[in-house]
Amino acid sequence: MPIPTIYTENRKVYIIDQTLLPIEKKYIEIKDKKEMWDAIKRLKIRGAPAIGIAAAFGVWLGVRNFKGSFNEFMKRFEEVCSYLATSRPTAVNLFWAIDRMKNLISKSNTENVEELKELIFNEARNMIDEDNMVCRAIGENGVSLIKDGYSLITHCNAGGLATAMYGTALAPIYIAKERGYNIHVWVDETRPLLQGARITAFELVEADIPATLITDNMAAFVMYQGRVNMAIVGADRIAANGDTANKIGTLGLAILAKEFGVPFYVAAPISTIDLKTKEGIDIPIEERGPDEIIKGFGKQTAPSNINVYNPAFDVTPARYISGIITEKGIITPPYRENIQKLFS
Ligand code: MRU
Repeated sequence: MPIPTIYTENRKVYIIDQTLLPIEKKYIEIKDKKEMWDAIKRLKIRGAPAIGIAAAFGVWLGVRNFKGSFNEFMKRFEEVCSYLATSRPTAVNLFWAIDRMKNLISKSNTENVEELKELIFNEARNMIDEDNMVCRAIGENGVSLIKDGYSLITHCNAGGLATAMYGTALAPIYIAKERGYNIHVWVDETRPLLQGARITAFELVEADIPATLITDNMAAFVMYQGRVNMAIVGADRIAANGDTANKIGTLGLAILAKEFGVPFYVAAPISTIDLKTKEGIDIPIEERGPDEIIKGFGKQTAPSNINVYNPAFDVTPARYISGIITEKGIITPPYRENIQKLFS
């Protein structure tokens, strides 16, 4: 059973602090909207679907102690939503979750503030259950692409810790394991914040799935050696034409996969598809501070006054993607038409 990323107990919200992994498995209580904003910004909770759920709980934390009139409540609610929306820009699930809360409130037919707070809390909790079902369905759909004996490669962490529990890119791998397949996973370390080494490697070891950690610049060589049958990654935002933003380094992996004839799949819930974003170039890409590169994890490895460019994500053009595995099935090219069909 994968470990939960976020849960509630006695109306308290807890997350596993992913900045401490793999050394420490520690749950922390998030008490207010500021703490949730901070947890998202600092990657204590990360991964597109998990960020969405975190934002949903953040909305509740931001209004739960509110006392006042309906109009004052609505003002506070809007402020909290706008505030949380500034935490990270790329994963569309954050905005999807906030919009979902806004729709919930605008469609509700009560002006009773306590009832509205309760609706928000229940919606956030439902998102956890839904995410579990969605990820399970992604896994069931994705496992059809995996054959017994396969060696897969993944980048960053799109496992249980990037969602409520099961993951997207790792879900088909977990199901393959359940079915007794003999599989192996190459884990890209994922510079600069090492989500592959710290989180994916941790998850796969916990799940007893054979895995080998490599630094990002080794992926080309293992593909050249013919040791990879399939690449599978998650997504932070998929544009209407299938172009996909995911952790920096994904684009390089996709280009390598094409060169070496390795099928390259993206696994994501349909909440990660953003029809309002026409193509990849329109996706806002988060840039993070220089210290993550100059002195990652506290050790200085470059002159402190060197210029640094640190985009947290890149965009893989749709032409490199063999298929997008969703809970509703596997989308194949032509993406613009087939994504449109899925939504209509
Ligand atoms: O910066 P992070 O750790 O939030 O980046 C996470 C990723 O890029 C994941 O691959 C993506 O969010 C998909 S998670 C199912």
